[in-house]
Amino acid sequence: MNIPAFPDLPAGFRFGAATAAYQIEGAHDQDGRGPSIWDTYSHTPGRTLGGATGDTACDHYHRYPEDVALLRELGVDGYRFSIAWPRLVPGGTGPANPKGLDFYDRLIDELLAAGIAPAATLYHWDLPQALEDRGGWRVRETAEAFAEYAALAADRYGDRVERWITLNEPFCSAFVGYAEGRHAPGAREGRGALAAAHHLLVGHGLAVRALRAAGAREVGIALNLDRLHPASDRPEDLAALRRAEVLHNEVWTEPLFAGRYPAHEAETWEGLADGPWRRPGDLEPIGAPLDFVGINFYRPVTVAAAPHHEADPELRTATDIGVTEPNPYGTRLTTMGWPVVPSAFTELLTGLHARYPRLPPLWITENGSAEADRSTPDGRVHDPERTDYLAGHLAAVADAIAAGVDVRGYYVWSLLDNFEWARGYEQRFGLVRVDYDTLTRTPKDSYHWYRGLITAHRARTEETAR
Ligand code: FCB
Repeated sequence: MNIPAFPDLPAGFRFGAATAAYQIEGAHDQDGRGPSIWDTYSHTPGRTLGGATGDTACDHYHRYPEDVALLRELGVDGYRFSIAWPRLVPGGTGPANPKGLDFYDRLIDELLAAGIAPAATLYHWDLPQALEDRGGWRVRETAEAFAEYAALAADRYGDRVERWITLNEPFCSAFVGYAEGRHAPGAREGRGALAAAHHLLVGHGLAVRALRAAGAREVGIALNLDRLHPASDRPEDLAALRRAEVLHNEVWTEPLFAGRYPAHEAETWEGLADGPWRRPGDLEPIGAPLDFVGINFYRPVTVAAAPHHEADPELRTATDIGVTEPNPYGTRLTTMGWPVVPSAFTELLTGLHARYPRLPPLWITENGSAEADRSTPDGRVHDPERTDYLAGHLAAVADAIAAGVDVRGYYVWSLLDNFEWARGYEQRFGLVRVDYDTLTRTPKDSYHWYRGLITAHRARTEETAR
């Protein structure tokens, strides 16, 4: 594989890298942190690959100075991390944990001293277990507790955090967590998943209010919207596509960017669509204007009509039935089994832009790939597939910008190899390799490529400004 050319992004475009608390921090029971649903889930036999947990992960809690040094050396403008709710408020509600508050003070100050702008995600899936025990996202109290926690974080860090992301991928929290059960809390419920989807949106809306009241600067959300292709133009595949558009995309985009519930929700969710969890007036905070929207993108999805396999009818309406992921694109697959199709990324961005006139500016809050990296005795880690993936997807972003979409910046997923949820530690997404025995960090070839791209881009931006 040749080293790909640097994609042509506009002057002022910003580059960063991303991580999430449970995937890297470790120190799961130290300094007053409470348990989260991911602690419970990963400690339940059979839930994660090889029984992997985030107990130690990359030990970022203790090694954050080294990780910030890696970011500085990489030359990024910004770093997206998440704050662990159970570290700040161990019981979900109630007293804050001073040592947890101090940790993110130290991290943020270290970033600022390195000239890196902090972007903080408030919820990257680690719900305090105490709240799950009281109903989790199935109940409105969790949304209210989330807003209180958001206010606490903004009061403490709002003077230094540049960009706030309320929720990361609420699709996964609601549907993978409460319907498919492949993520914490591992529930298998139709009604519960739809209630969770709604309460996540309510929580987002209330948190936006709380963040703004505390003077937060930029406020947004990170969504994993899908570019869906029908497997064929047979009527049954097109009907499955219509349903998947609601389930994957419109459940979020319609309330957030158009102030309404999806037009086709009744045929998608039958009797569950308009559940008692909805209250008059909810759409107002949910649809309040945002400063930006974060887009997480990895791969396109192909939709085909498939026979229903869930016996429980409620669960059937709230799961991914009809969505399959073969690779009709004929492209390479990453080790996650995801097809590499950068043009689908451009289509997703231009499609969103065309559909929603009120769409705020976009940031790519996650994009990257898991690959079979090769370490060599000279201490290098070769990952040409990842460099190729990043170059292709950054070029796809450049194409979207050329077509008129306002994309401001890009965070690679991820700075470090880390705990890839139910897939454990086998999937490696990092620009930096982590040896899980010694916790040694080694920048991969893709790290050096990304660094070169940032340096070249900065030089060009400065030249344009002159
Ligand atoms: C996204 C998650 C992120 C990471 C990547 C690979 O769905 O937001 O934490 O696991 O996938």
